[in-house]
Amino acid sequence: MFRKMAQTQYFCGLDLGTHTLKAGIICAKDEENLDLMGVFETRATGFKEASISDIAELSDCIQHVMQGVMQKTGIKVHAVQLGISGSFLAVRRSSAIIPLIDSGTKVVSAFDLRKVDHQAKLLGVNLDEDIIHDFPQWYRVDDVNTSANPAGLVGRKIESSLLLLTAQALRLRNLTKAVHQAGFEVNSVAFSGFAAGDVAVDKEDKTQGCALVDIGANITSVIFFKNGIVGDVQFIPWGGNYITQTIAERLSLTVDLAEEIKKTQGQASQSDPKEVSGEILVKREKGYMPIRREAVCEAVNWEIENFLTHLEAVVKGSNLYYQLNKGIVMVGGGSLLTGAIERIEERVNRPVRMGASTPGLNNAPVYAAAIGLGRMHYLKKKQESLNIKTPAAFKDKIVNSVRELCQEYF
Ligand SMILES: Nc1ncnc2c1ncn2[C@@H]1O[C@H](COP(=O)(O)OP(=O)(O)OP(=O)(O)O)[C@@H](O)[C@H]1O
Ligand SMILES: [Mg+2]
Repeated sequence: MFRKMAQTQYFCGLDLGTHTLKAGIICAKDEENLDLMGVFETRATGFKEASISDIAELSDCIQHVMQGVMQKTGIKVHAVQLGISGSFLAVRRSSAIIPLIDSGTKVVSAFDLRKVDHQAKLLGVNLDEDIIHDFPQWYRVDDVNTSANPAGLVGRKIESSLLLLTAQALRLRNLTKAVHQAGFEVNSVAFSGFAAGDVAVDKEDKTQGCALVDIGANITSVIFFKNGIVGDVQFIPWGGNYITQTIAERLSLTVDLAEEIKKTQGQASQSDPKEVSGEILVKREKGYMPIRREAVCEAVNWEIENFLTHLEAVVKGSNLYYQLNKGIVMVGGGSLLTGAIERIEERVNRPVRMGASTPGLNNAPVYAAAIGLGRMHYLKKKQESLNIKTPAAFKDKIVNSVRELCQEYF
Protein backbone atom coordinates (compact mmCIF):
# COMPACT_ATOMS: atom_id res chain seq x y z
CA MET A 1 0.00 0.00 0.00
CA PHE A 2 2.77 2.44 1.06
CA ARG A 3 4.78 1.44 -2.00
CA LYS A 4 1.81 2.22 -4.26
CA MET A 5 1.31 5.64 -2.64
CA ALA A 6 4.97 6.48 -2.97
CA GLN A 7 4.90 5.57 -6.64
CA THR A 8 1.91 7.72 -7.62
CA GLN A 9 2.66 11.39 -7.23
CA TYR A 10 0.92 14.58 -8.28
CA PHE A 11 2.65 17.58 -9.78
CA CYS A 12 1.35 21.02 -10.61
CA GLY A 13 2.26 23.46 -13.37
CA LEU A 14 1.18 27.10 -13.10
CA ASP A 15 1.44 29.11 -16.32
CA LEU A 16 1.40 32.81 -15.41
CA GLY A 17 0.10 34.24 -18.67
CA THR A 18 -0.44 38.00 -18.78
CA HIS A 19 -4.02 37.40 -20.02
CA THR A 20 -4.97 34.06 -18.46
CA LEU A 21 -3.53 32.04 -15.58
CA LYS A 22 -3.59 28.33 -16.28
CA ALA A 23 -2.94 25.49 -13.85
CA GLY A 24 -2.68 21.77 -14.52
CA ILE A 25 -2.17 18.78 -12.23
CA ILE A 26 -0.59 15.62 -13.53
CA CYS A 27 -0.14 12.22 -12.02
CA ALA A 28 3.26 10.71 -12.71
CA LYS A 29 4.29 7.10 -12.40
CA ASP A 30 7.28 7.44 -14.68
CA GLU A 31 8.45 9.67 -17.54
CA GLU A 32 6.27 7.99 -20.14
CA ASN A 33 3.24 7.50 -17.90
CA LEU A 34 1.91 10.94 -17.13
CA ASP A 35 -1.83 11.28 -16.71
CA LEU A 36 -3.50 14.66 -16.81
CA MET A 37 -5.80 14.95 -13.79
CA GLY A 38 -7.28 18.32 -14.73
CA VAL A 39 -6.72 21.92 -15.81
CA PHE A 40 -8.25 25.22 -14.78
CA GLU A 41 -7.93 28.78 -16.02
CA THR A 42 -8.86 32.22 -14.86
CA ARG A 43 -8.52 35.72 -16.31
CA ALA A 44 -5.25 37.29 -15.07
CA THR A 45 -5.50 40.44 -12.98
CA GLY A 46 -2.72 42.37 -11.27
CA PHE A 47 -0.59 42.54 -14.42
CA LYS A 48 -0.07 45.59 -16.54
CA GLU A 49 1.59 44.31 -19.68
CA ALA A 50 4.73 42.55 -18.41
CA SER A 51 4.85 44.09 -14.94
CA ILE A 52 2.95 43.39 -11.77
CA SER A 53 0.66 46.33 -11.13
CA ASP A 54 -0.99 44.94 -7.99
CA ILE A 55 0.64 42.03 -6.17
CA ALA A 56 -2.34 41.42 -3.86
CA GLU A 57 -4.65 41.16 -6.87
CA LEU A 58 -2.27 38.80 -8.68
CA SER A 59 -1.92 36.71 -5.55
CA ASP A 60 -5.74 36.39 -5.22
CA CYS A 61 -5.90 35.41 -8.85
CA ILE A 62 -3.26 32.70 -8.32
CA GLN A 63 -5.18 31.43 -5.32
CA HIS A 64 -8.35 31.31 -7.42
CA VAL A 65 -6.80 29.28 -10.23
CA MET A 66 -5.10 26.91 -7.78
CA GLN A 67 -8.30 26.37 -5.77
CA GLY A 68 -10.10 25.79 -9.06
CA VAL A 69 -7.75 23.07 -10.26
CA MET A 70 -7.59 21.42 -6.82
CA GLN A 71 -11.37 21.36 -6.49
CA LYS A 72 -11.79 20.02 -9.99
CA THR A 73 -9.32 17.19 -9.47
CA GLY A 74 -9.86 16.56 -5.75
CA ILE A 75 -6.07 16.68 -5.33
CA LYS A 76 -4.25 19.01 -2.94
CA VAL A 77 -0.85 20.36 -3.95
CA HIS A 78 1.53 22.58 -2.00
CA ALA A 79 4.08 23.55 -4.61
CA VAL A 80 4.03 24.57 -8.27
CA GLN A 81 6.40 24.68 -11.20
CA LEU A 82 6.03 28.29 -12.25
CA GLY A 83 5.98 29.26 -15.92
CA ILE A 84 6.52 32.80 -17.15
CA SER A 85 5.86 34.16 -20.62
CA GLY A 86 8.33 35.68 -23.06
CA SER A 87 7.28 39.17 -21.89
CA PHE A 88 9.56 38.66 -18.87
CA LEU A 89 12.51 37.22 -20.76
CA ALA A 90 15.53 38.29 -22.78
CA VAL A 91 17.41 36.01 -25.19
CA ARG A 92 21.17 36.19 -25.43
CA ARG A 93 23.95 34.11 -26.93
CA SER A 94 27.12 33.77 -24.91
CA SER A 95 30.37 31.90 -25.40
CA ALA A 96 33.58 31.35 -23.45
CA ILE A 97 36.91 29.76 -24.10
CA ILE A 98 39.26 28.30 -21.49
CA PRO A 99 42.62 26.46 -21.63
CA LEU A 100 42.40 22.78 -20.69
CA ILE A 101 45.92 22.64 -19.31
CA ASP A 102 48.95 24.94 -18.83
CA SER A 103 51.02 23.19 -21.47
CA GLY A 104 50.57 20.19 -23.77
CA THR A 105 47.21 18.53 -24.31
CA LYS A 106 44.68 16.63 -22.23
CA VAL A 107 41.44 14.66 -22.50
CA VAL A 108 38.32 16.80 -22.16
CA SER A 109 36.42 15.78 -19.01
CA ALA A 110 32.89 16.48 -17.77
CA PHE A 111 34.50 18.84 -15.25
CA ASP A 112 36.01 20.92 -18.12
CA LEU A 113 32.59 21.16 -19.78
CA ARG A 114 30.97 22.38 -16.57
CA LYS A 115 33.80 24.91 -16.11
CA VAL A 116 33.58 26.41 -19.61
CA ASP A 117 29.76 26.49 -19.44
CA HIS A 118 29.94 28.28 -16.11
CA GLN A 119 32.28 30.83 -17.65
CA ALA A 120 29.92 31.39 -20.61
CA LYS A 121 27.01 31.89 -18.19
CA LEU A 122 28.95 34.40 -16.10
CA LEU A 123 29.84 36.38 -19.21
CA GLY A 124 26.31 36.28 -20.61
CA VAL A 125 24.28 37.46 -17.64
CA ASN A 126 23.94 40.97 -16.21
CA LEU A 127 24.21 41.68 -12.50
CA ASP A 128 20.48 42.27 -12.05
CA GLU A 129 19.42 39.16 -14.02
CA ASP A 130 18.83 35.47 -13.30
CA ILE A 131 19.32 32.74 -15.88
CA ILE A 132 16.07 30.84 -16.48
CA HIS A 133 17.44 28.43 -19.10
CA ASP A 134 20.84 27.80 -20.63
CA PHE A 135 20.60 25.77 -23.81
CA PRO A 136 23.99 24.35 -24.89
CA GLN A 137 24.63 24.99 -28.61
CA TRP A 138 28.05 23.50 -29.34
CA TYR A 139 31.57 22.95 -28.01
CA ARG A 140 34.73 23.50 -30.00
CA VAL A 141 38.05 21.90 -29.13
CA ASP A 142 41.13 23.76 -30.41
CA ASP A 143 39.02 25.91 -32.77
CA VAL A 144 38.21 22.98 -35.03
CA ASN A 145 36.27 20.04 -33.65
CA THR A 146 32.71 21.23 -33.20
CA SER A 147 30.75 18.73 -31.15
CA ALA A 148 27.66 18.41 -28.99
CA ASN A 149 29.59 16.36 -26.42
CA PRO A 150 33.39 16.56 -26.72
CA ALA A 151 34.13 14.63 -23.49
CA GLY A 152 36.95 12.23 -24.27
CA LEU A 153 38.50 14.28 -27.09
CA VAL A 154 42.10 15.46 -26.70
CA GLY A 155 42.90 19.17 -26.94
CA ARG A 156 44.54 22.24 -25.47
CA LYS A 157 41.56 24.61 -25.16
CA ILE A 158 37.77 24.37 -25.23
CA GLU A 159 35.06 26.80 -26.28
CA SER A 160 31.38 26.62 -25.33
CA SER A 161 28.42 28.41 -26.89
CA LEU A 162 25.15 28.80 -24.95
CA LEU A 163 21.74 30.26 -25.69
CA LEU A 164 20.59 32.00 -22.51
CA LEU A 165 17.09 33.04 -21.43
CA THR A 166 17.36 35.57 -18.65
CA ALA A 167 14.87 37.51 -16.52
CA GLN A 168 15.19 40.55 -14.28
CA ALA A 169 15.85 39.18 -10.78
CA LEU A 170 13.53 41.66 -9.06
CA ARG A 171 10.61 40.89 -11.34
CA LEU A 172 11.14 37.19 -10.67
CA ARG A 173 11.19 37.80 -6.94
CA ASN A 174 7.89 39.63 -7.16
CA LEU A 175 6.26 36.86 -9.20
CA THR A 176 7.49 34.25 -6.73
CA LYS A 177 6.29 36.42 -3.85
CA ALA A 178 2.80 36.55 -5.36
CA VAL A 179 2.72 32.72 -5.44
CA HIS A 180 3.94 32.52 -1.84
CA GLN A 181 1.28 35.01 -0.76
CA ALA A 182 -1.29 32.75 -2.38
CA GLY A 183 -0.05 29.96 -0.10
CA PHE A 184 2.07 27.85 -2.47
CA GLU A 185 5.76 27.02 -2.77
CA VAL A 186 7.61 27.54 -6.05
CA ASN A 187 9.59 24.51 -7.14
CA SER A 188 11.42 26.50 -9.82
CA VAL A 189 10.72 28.94 -12.63
CA ALA A 190 10.73 28.05 -16.32
CA PHE A 191 9.82 29.61 -19.67
CA SER A 192 6.20 28.62 -20.42
CA GLY A 193 6.86 28.33 -24.16
CA PHE A 194 9.66 25.84 -23.58
CA ALA A 195 7.47 23.86 -21.17
CA ALA A 196 4.73 23.74 -23.82
CA GLY A 197 7.28 22.28 -26.25
CA ASP A 198 7.90 19.50 -23.74
CA VAL A 199 4.45 18.04 -24.37
CA ALA A 200 3.35 19.53 -27.71
CA VAL A 201 6.43 18.59 -29.76
CA ASP A 202 7.73 15.03 -29.73
CA LYS A 203 11.39 13.95 -29.67
CA GLU A 204 11.42 12.98 -33.35
CA ASP A 205 10.17 16.43 -34.45
CA LYS A 206 12.74 18.13 -32.22
CA THR A 207 15.47 16.08 -33.83
CA GLN A 208 14.33 16.57 -37.42
CA GLY A 209 13.68 20.28 -37.04
CA CYS A 210 10.54 22.12 -36.05
CA ALA A 211 9.41 25.49 -34.69
CA LEU A 212 6.95 25.94 -31.83
CA VAL A 213 4.92 29.13 -32.16
CA ASP A 214 3.19 30.18 -28.91
CA ILE A 215 0.73 32.99 -29.69
CA GLY A 216 -0.13 34.57 -26.34
CA ALA A 217 -2.05 37.72 -25.51
CA ASN A 218 0.76 40.26 -25.85
CA ILE A 219 3.71 38.30 -27.15
CA THR A 220 4.42 35.46 -29.56
CA SER A 221 7.35 33.15 -28.82
CA VAL A 222 9.04 31.17 -31.57
CA ILE A 223 11.24 28.30 -30.39
CA PHE A 224 13.34 26.49 -32.98
CA PHE A 225 14.30 22.87 -32.32
CA LYS A 226 16.92 20.97 -34.29
CA ASN A 227 19.03 17.88 -33.44
CA GLY A 228 17.06 17.54 -30.22
CA ILE A 229 18.11 20.92 -28.81
CA VAL A 230 16.70 24.45 -28.72
CA GLY A 231 18.63 26.16 -31.51
CA ASP A 232 17.02 29.60 -31.33
CA VAL A 233 14.31 31.55 -29.50
CA GLN A 234 12.72 34.72 -30.87
CA PHE A 235 9.97 36.93 -29.50
CA ILE A 236 7.47 38.91 -31.57
CA PRO A 237 5.77 41.77 -29.74
CA TRP A 238 2.32 40.75 -30.96
CA GLY A 239 -0.48 38.62 -29.51
CA GLY A 240 -4.23 37.99 -29.68
CA ASN A 241 -4.98 41.12 -27.62
CA TYR A 242 -3.85 43.26 -30.54
CA ILE A 243 -6.80 41.99 -32.59
CA THR A 244 -9.19 42.66 -29.70
CA GLN A 245 -7.85 46.20 -29.29
CA THR A 246 -8.16 46.97 -33.01
CA ILE A 247 -11.75 45.67 -33.14
CA ALA A 248 -12.61 47.72 -30.04
CA GLU A 249 -11.04 50.92 -31.43
CA ARG A 250 -12.38 50.66 -34.97
CA LEU A 251 -15.90 49.71 -33.97
CA SER A 252 -16.06 51.81 -30.77
CA LEU A 253 -16.80 48.79 -28.58
CA THR A 254 -15.74 47.83 -25.07
CA VAL A 255 -12.73 45.49 -24.88
CA ASP A 256 -14.90 42.70 -23.42
CA LEU A 257 -17.36 42.94 -26.29
CA ALA A 258 -14.57 43.10 -28.87
CA GLU A 259 -13.03 39.97 -27.29
CA GLU A 260 -16.35 38.15 -27.53
CA ILE A 261 -16.80 39.16 -31.18
CA LYS A 262 -13.23 38.11 -32.02
CA LYS A 263 -13.74 34.65 -30.52
CA THR A 264 -17.14 34.01 -32.08
CA GLN A 265 -16.91 35.87 -35.42
CA GLY A 266 -13.21 36.59 -36.01
CA GLN A 267 -11.56 34.79 -38.91
CA ALA A 268 -8.03 34.94 -40.21
CA SER A 269 -9.18 33.81 -43.66
CA GLN A 270 -7.91 35.77 -46.62
CA SER A 271 -11.31 36.59 -48.10
CA ASP A 272 -11.70 40.16 -49.29
CA PRO A 273 -13.58 42.08 -46.53
CA LYS A 274 -15.64 43.76 -49.27
CA GLU A 275 -17.13 40.35 -50.12
CA VAL A 276 -18.20 39.71 -46.54
CA SER A 277 -21.80 40.67 -46.04
CA GLY A 278 -24.29 40.66 -43.20
CA GLU A 279 -24.49 42.10 -39.73
CA ILE A 280 -23.96 41.00 -36.14
CA LEU A 281 -26.45 42.20 -33.54
CA VAL A 282 -24.67 43.51 -30.46
CA LYS A 283 -26.48 44.17 -27.18
CA ARG A 284 -26.07 47.75 -25.97
CA GLU A 285 -27.69 49.70 -23.14
CA LYS A 286 -30.43 50.99 -25.44
CA GLY A 287 -31.22 47.70 -27.14
CA TYR A 288 -29.49 45.88 -30.00
CA MET A 289 -27.12 47.56 -32.42
CA PRO A 290 -26.04 46.10 -35.78
CA ILE A 291 -22.33 45.82 -36.61
CA ARG A 292 -21.15 45.12 -40.16
CA ARG A 293 -19.28 41.82 -40.51
CA GLU A 294 -17.15 43.54 -43.14
CA ALA A 295 -15.78 45.95 -40.49
CA VAL A 296 -14.87 43.06 -38.14
CA CYS A 297 -13.20 41.21 -41.01
CA GLU A 298 -11.19 44.33 -41.97
CA ALA A 299 -9.95 44.83 -38.39
CA VAL A 300 -8.91 41.18 -37.99
CA ASN A 301 -7.25 41.07 -41.42
CA TRP A 302 -5.28 44.24 -40.75
CA GLU A 303 -3.85 42.80 -37.51
CA ILE A 304 -3.23 39.33 -38.96
CA GLU A 305 -1.28 40.84 -41.87
CA ASN A 306 0.80 42.76 -39.37
CA PHE A 307 1.52 39.55 -37.42
CA LEU A 308 2.30 37.49 -40.53
CA THR A 309 4.85 40.05 -41.70
CA HIS A 310 6.69 39.74 -38.36
CA LEU A 311 6.38 35.95 -38.24
CA GLU A 312 7.60 35.53 -41.81
CA ALA A 313 10.66 37.67 -41.07
CA VAL A 314 11.46 35.64 -37.94
CA VAL A 315 10.87 32.17 -39.42
CA LYS A 316 12.35 32.74 -42.89
CA GLY A 317 15.15 34.86 -41.41
CA SER A 318 16.26 32.05 -39.12
CA ASN A 319 19.28 30.04 -40.21
CA LEU A 320 17.25 26.95 -39.22
CA TYR A 321 14.44 27.75 -41.70
CA TYR A 322 15.58 25.20 -44.31
CA GLN A 323 15.94 22.59 -41.59
CA LEU A 324 12.35 22.81 -40.34
CA ASN A 325 11.52 19.39 -41.78
CA LYS A 326 8.62 18.89 -39.38
CA GLY A 327 7.17 22.34 -39.90
CA ILE A 328 5.47 24.48 -37.29
CA VAL A 329 3.49 23.55 -34.18
CA MET A 330 1.16 26.16 -32.72
CA VAL A 331 0.10 26.62 -29.09
CA GLY A 332 -1.33 29.48 -27.00
CA GLY A 333 -4.77 31.07 -26.99
CA GLY A 334 -4.03 33.25 -30.03
CA SER A 335 -3.59 30.14 -32.17
CA LEU A 336 -7.30 29.30 -31.71
CA LEU A 337 -8.36 32.07 -34.10
CA THR A 338 -10.23 30.42 -36.97
CA GLY A 339 -8.12 30.23 -40.12
CA ALA A 340 -4.81 31.07 -38.40
CA ILE A 341 -3.19 27.73 -39.34
CA GLU A 342 -3.96 28.16 -43.05
CA ARG A 343 -2.70 31.76 -43.17
CA ILE A 344 0.58 30.90 -41.43
CA GLU A 345 1.11 27.82 -43.60
CA GLU A 346 0.62 29.86 -46.76
CA ARG A 347 2.98 32.62 -45.59
CA VAL A 348 5.92 30.60 -44.25
CA ASN A 349 5.71 27.71 -46.73
CA ARG A 350 5.96 25.02 -44.07
CA PRO A 351 3.32 22.58 -42.77
CA VAL A 352 1.56 23.95 -39.69
CA ARG A 353 -0.41 21.99 -37.08
CA MET A 354 -1.91 22.55 -33.65
CA GLY A 355 0.05 21.23 -30.70
CA ALA A 356 -2.28 18.75 -29.04
CA SER A 357 -0.71 18.04 -25.67
CA THR A 358 -3.38 15.67 -24.43
CA PRO A 359 -5.83 13.69 -26.58
CA GLY A 360 -9.44 14.64 -25.94
CA LEU A 361 -8.67 17.83 -24.00
CA ASN A 362 -10.64 20.84 -25.21
CA ASN A 363 -8.44 23.79 -26.20
CA ALA A 364 -5.36 21.63 -25.57
CA PRO A 365 -2.94 24.18 -27.17
CA VAL A 366 -3.86 26.69 -24.43
CA TYR A 367 -2.95 24.26 -21.64
CA ALA A 368 0.21 22.80 -23.19
CA ALA A 369 2.45 25.02 -21.05
CA ALA A 370 0.67 24.21 -17.75
CA ILE A 371 0.86 20.48 -18.51
CA GLY A 372 4.50 20.74 -19.64
CA LEU A 373 5.32 22.60 -16.43
CA GLY A 374 3.72 19.80 -14.40
CA ARG A 375 5.93 17.32 -16.24
CA MET A 376 9.02 19.48 -15.57
CA HIS A 377 8.06 19.53 -11.88
CA TYR A 378 8.01 15.74 -11.87
CA LEU A 379 11.37 15.46 -13.70
CA LYS A 380 13.02 17.92 -11.31
CA LYS A 381 11.77 16.07 -8.25
CA LYS A 382 12.94 12.81 -9.76
CA GLN A 383 16.40 14.28 -10.38
CA GLU A 384 16.53 15.60 -6.83
CA SER A 385 15.63 12.23 -5.42
CA LEU A 386 18.40 10.64 -7.50
CA ASN A 387 20.85 13.14 -6.03
CA ILE A 388 19.88 12.24 -2.45
CA LYS A 389 22.80 10.47 -0.85
CA THR A 390 21.75 6.84 -0.90
CA PRO A 391 24.70 4.41 -0.54
CA ALA A 392 24.43 3.53 -4.27
CA ALA A 393 24.33 7.18 -5.40
CA PHE A 394 27.24 8.00 -3.11
CA LYS A 395 29.28 5.14 -4.60
CA ASP A 396 28.49 6.32 -8.16
CA LYS A 397 29.57 9.84 -7.24
CA ILE A 398 32.92 8.63 -5.85
CA VAL A 399 33.54 6.46 -8.93
CA ASN A 400 32.75 9.42 -11.26
CA SER A 401 35.00 11.78 -9.32
CA VAL A 402 37.91 9.32 -9.41
CA ARG A 403 37.36 8.78 -13.15
CA GLU A 404 37.36 12.55 -13.79
CA LEU A 405 40.48 12.97 -11.66
CA CYS A 406 42.26 10.26 -13.64
CA GLN A 407 41.24 11.91 -16.93
CA GLU A 408 42.45 15.24 -15.56
CA TYR A 409 45.96 14.09 -14.73
CA PHE A 410 46.77 11.04 -16.85
N1 LIG B 1 -11.18 30.95 -29.45
C1 LIG B 1 -10.32 31.96 -29.57
N2 LIG B 1 -10.20 32.62 -30.75
C2 LIG B 1 -9.35 33.64 -30.88
N3 LIG B 1 -8.55 34.08 -29.91
C3 LIG B 1 -8.61 33.48 -28.72
C4 LIG B 1 -9.50 32.38 -28.47
N4 LIG B 1 -9.34 31.98 -27.19
C5 LIG B 1 -8.40 32.79 -26.65
N5 LIG B 1 -7.97 33.69 -27.55
C6 LIG B 1 -6.97 34.75 -27.34
O1 LIG B 1 -5.79 34.20 -26.84
C7 LIG B 1 -5.11 35.17 -26.03
C8 LIG B 1 -4.74 34.56 -24.72
O2 LIG B 1 -3.92 33.46 -24.97
P1 LIG B 1 -3.02 32.84 -23.81
O3 LIG B 1 -3.89 32.40 -22.70
O4 LIG B 1 -2.15 31.82 -24.43
O5 LIG B 1 -2.21 34.13 -23.38
P2 LIG B 1 -1.32 34.35 -22.09
O6 LIG B 1 -0.50 33.13 -21.87
O7 LIG B 1 -2.18 34.77 -20.96
O8 LIG B 1 -0.46 35.59 -22.57
P3 LIG B 1 1.12 35.79 -22.76
O9 LIG B 1 1.69 34.46 -23.12
O10 LIG B 1 1.22 36.81 -23.84
O11 LIG B 1 1.59 36.30 -21.43
C9 LIG B 1 -6.07 36.34 -25.85
O12 LIG B 1 -5.71 37.40 -26.70
C10 LIG B 1 -7.40 35.72 -26.26
O13 LIG B 1 -8.28 36.70 -26.80
MG1 LIG C 1 1.37 32.43 -22.55
